[in-house]
Amino acid sequence: MAKIVAVGIATLDIINTVETYPSEDTEVRALSQRKVRGGNATNTLVVLSQLGHKCYWAGILIDEADSSIIKQELAHFNIDSSACRIISSGKMPTSYISVSQETGSRSIVHHRDCPEFSFADFKKIDLSQFDWVHFEGRNIEQTELMLHYLNQHHPSLPCSLEVEKPRIGIETLFSLPSIVLFSKDYAVAYHHKTAEELLISLPKEIVASCTWGNQGAWAINEKQQLFHSKTYDPPNVVDTLGAGDTFNAAFIDGLLNKLELSQALTRACQLAGRKCGQQGLTNLI
Ligand code: FRU
Repeated sequence: MAKIVAVGIATLDIINTVETYPSEDTEVRALSQRKVRGGNATNTLVVLSQLGHKCYWAGILIDEADSSIIKQELAHFNIDSSACRIISSGKMPTSYISVSQETGSRSIVHHRDCPEFSFADFKKIDLSQFDWVHFEGRNIEQTELMLHYLNQHHPSLPCSLEVEKPRIGIETLFSLPSIVLFSKDYAVAYHHKTAEELLISLPKEIVASCTWGNQGAWAINEKQQLFHSKTYDPPNVVDTLGAGDTFNAAFIDGLLNKLELSQALTRACQLAGRKCGQQGLTNLI
């Protein structure tokens, strides 16, 4: 068991399952609705916790009615939120999500009006107790300070950075963590036609992975050797929400367990595949 802290968000996810994704300016009736905790960093922690690790979340927790679902679920997975900054007014980030029963795809409208976890908050964490630190690629200036601080004060503490969305200046972070976990969305936004193209374009010595939908995922090591894993499709794709966060968790778990990069990649694709075959992230392992 490792101790892992993730810096990033928790959200309230309001998830409507619909028969097929609606076209614009139409009305459809949802087949079902559920309200759950979401957010990339905390999704990844929920999976890491099921993989047997002791997990800690560092983010912003707003003291309002909707945060009770979030707090309950984190407590259920034994995730410690004591490193969070608690804010007394405002609203937790909220995602309005449609999951298509036809394809399992998820479309998200995200609303956010909430401050970001800052470097000052991060510095209050006793990092010496941890085996791994995971960051969401957001809040770039402050995250850069956190990564520099980590490298300066805890040079042997491994860390990962998730790069899911293009954000101004995000590339300044790429050389700082032990591994960068890219998504297809990021690669496509920068006009890369394949995961390999993105990975090869990175400065030498960056260890990274990039997922690519139903083509699987690729990884590159510090010697610029590329590895590929196919997807492990479930018999029925039920729900892809959080599949990327699951991939990241399984990858981190593999590296913590000292697997080769290629083995960790395969394990990450296997668990992400299993996730797509079920609703939500509970009982994944
Ligand atoms: C899935 C997810 C959802 C959340 C949204 C935030 O990866 O974390 O749980 O609402 O993305 O961008």
